[in-house]
Amino acid sequence: MKWDADRYDRDQDFVSAYGRSLETLVPAGTEALLDLGCGTGTLTAELAGRIPHVVGVDASAEMVVRARREHPGVEFRVADALDLPYDGDFDVVFSNAVFHWIPDHPRLLSTVRRALRPGGRLVCEFGAKGNIARVDAAMGRAMRRRGLDLAVRFVFPGDDEFRRNLERAGFHGIDVGSYDRPTPLGGGEAGLSSWLRQFHADDLARVDEDERRTIITEVEEGLRDDLWDAARGCWIADYRRLRAVAVR
Ligand code: BEZ
Repeated sequence: MKWDADRYDRDQDFVSAYGRSLETLVPAGTEALLDLGCGTGTLTAELAGRIPHVVGVDASAEMVVRARREHPGVEFRVADALDLPYDGDFDVVFSNAVFHWIPDHPRLLSTVRRALRPGGRLVCEFGAKGNIARVDAAMGRAMRRRGLDLAVRFVFPGDDEFRRNLERAGFHGIDVGSYDRPTPLGGGEAGLSSWLRQFHADDLARVDEDERRTIITEVEEGLRDDLWDAARGCWIADYRRLRAVAVR
């Protein structure tokens, strides 16, 4: 997936805004923190303001280029979450809105565990079972009308499934919970279109620009009754979050 860092900072800045509440779970006294899937580095830079050693990693070179430019004092690296170059280096691995992009949770969690010092903790939040169910269904319908299946597949586990994966990876002190978090998208009337162009870019790349616009319009019209908030002038995505803390 190729990310559009400009679009991300303009219309998807709610990702880091909501991540701030996750920051409160980072224990006081944390010395070294890895921000896994740091995007354009907004939260990484905030964490670096209060934690002595912070590294942000992201699989997207575009995001890392932007993060380095916007936060020159902070360390950012391009790295694959399934193959992290760390072994016992961090007190905390922090990750916001990333794990649903990585289908192999068993491997992901064992890599994360290896990056932690003994007693270190994973603090993460991402899409829970049922996340964006309406948006996903509308997009799936629009693609199927054209004989195409959705190429972009997210992993949204239930609490028990994720807990089991944490246990199998060797974590203890596990706390997992999910909650609905209806999320206003940035960009007003164009917000859903912007979201689809960012997060379903691989699906939309399979058709030409005219067809792309038609698909987006179909998705918008299919969702308008449920997800358009006329009073606020924005789309409200049906996000559901899973939040977990677990100790190595
Ligand atoms: C999410 O943060 O839940 C999400 C973002 C983009 C695509 C799918 C899910």
